[in-house]
Amino acid sequence: MIPTIAWQDDYVVMIDQRKLPFKESYVVCKTPAQVISAIRNMVIRGAPAIGVAAAMGLALGAHRIKSQNRSVFERRFRQICEQMGCARPTASNLFWAIESMQQVVTDNPQASVEELKQLIRKKADEVLAEDQAINQAIGHHGQVVVPDGATVLTHCNAGALATAGYGTALGVVRAAWEAGKNIQVLADETRPFLQGSRLTAWELQQDNIPVTLITDNMAGYLMSQGRVQLIVVGADRVAANGDVANKIGTYSVAVLAKENKVPFYVAAPLSTVDLSVATGKDIPIEERDPKEVTHSMGRAIAPHGVSAWNPAFDVTPNRLIHGIITEKGIARKPYKKSLKAMKTQSA
Ligand code: MRU
Repeated sequence: MIPTIAWQDDYVVMIDQRKLPFKESYVVCKTPAQVISAIRNMVIRGAPAIGVAAAMGLALGAHRIKSQNRSVFERRFRQICEQMGCARPTASNLFWAIESMQQVVTDNPQASVEELKQLIRKKADEVLAEDQAINQAIGHHGQVVVPDGATVLTHCNAGALATAGYGTALGVVRAAWEAGKNIQVLADETRPFLQGSRLTAWELQQDNIPVTLITDNMAGYLMSQGRVQLIVVGADRVAANGDVANKIGTYSVAVLAKENKVPFYVAAPLSTVDLSVATGKDIPIEERDPKEVTHSMGRAIAPHGVSAWNPAFDVTPNRLIHGIITEKGIARKPYKKSLKAMKTQSA
């Protein structure tokens, strides 16, 4: 499996996802500012991977603070956390990771600056290591809903590249495949950033899992022809009531799934579940540069000067979701109750 993000000595190394599948190159981040820029500019993307990158970036930041005075250290570390929090607005995991790292400082009031730096680095290592284990648990629980012989449609990339490894939605696919089920994946290309065609198709091909690429507007037709048995997507943020923010176009897929009676599942770690947000209406939706719509792979595909709109995520209402597959099992309706119980269990 492709390593999305790793430590190399005391630096953070990420595979450059903007260049895939044409070029396998790596970006080395030596400062938290470089990690923030990598998240903002999509070198690394996908909610869990963003969380892991943030944790590692904060460990880098802590390490670089020169002062041995604890209150100065705390103030500088808080500033770096605030800057990290501005990298991207939608994925819950970013804020979860920042909070987890800040908690290390709060939980160790007697620690010296040097001790804090070590504890923060240790926490970042745990976040990195745990993410893969969490995804394998998601796969274990989720593969039960994958029928043998199924064609599974997915949107965007919720795979190894969107996490520290194995993937969430693609973790479910991988676990079903490893269990010996004869399945294949339909990957929506996922305009405008093409995470489906560039990343999902590539990573499944690397693992020899059968994958067929379609453009986003083909999904409804294929569902109506009975060619899709299951849909599994990832999530950027899950509200307390089970509404799910995920890559733009997910909502359309969910509506088409209901119309065509295809089960629609979301796979996400509990760090993506944000109980402080009551419903999907309260989830901030990132708006990206319209140039991502008017251009593709660096070339204009629309008339010069045309106006374009580029919301990066949409919200799928809980009523369209059959289940939310987490590392603790599958949350079912009413989500307000099941998600709260799972979050409390994991705390
Ligand atoms: O803009 P991106 O590529 O960061 O969006 C990613 C998605 O929407 C994924 O589906 C989601 O983060 C889940 S990744 C396991």
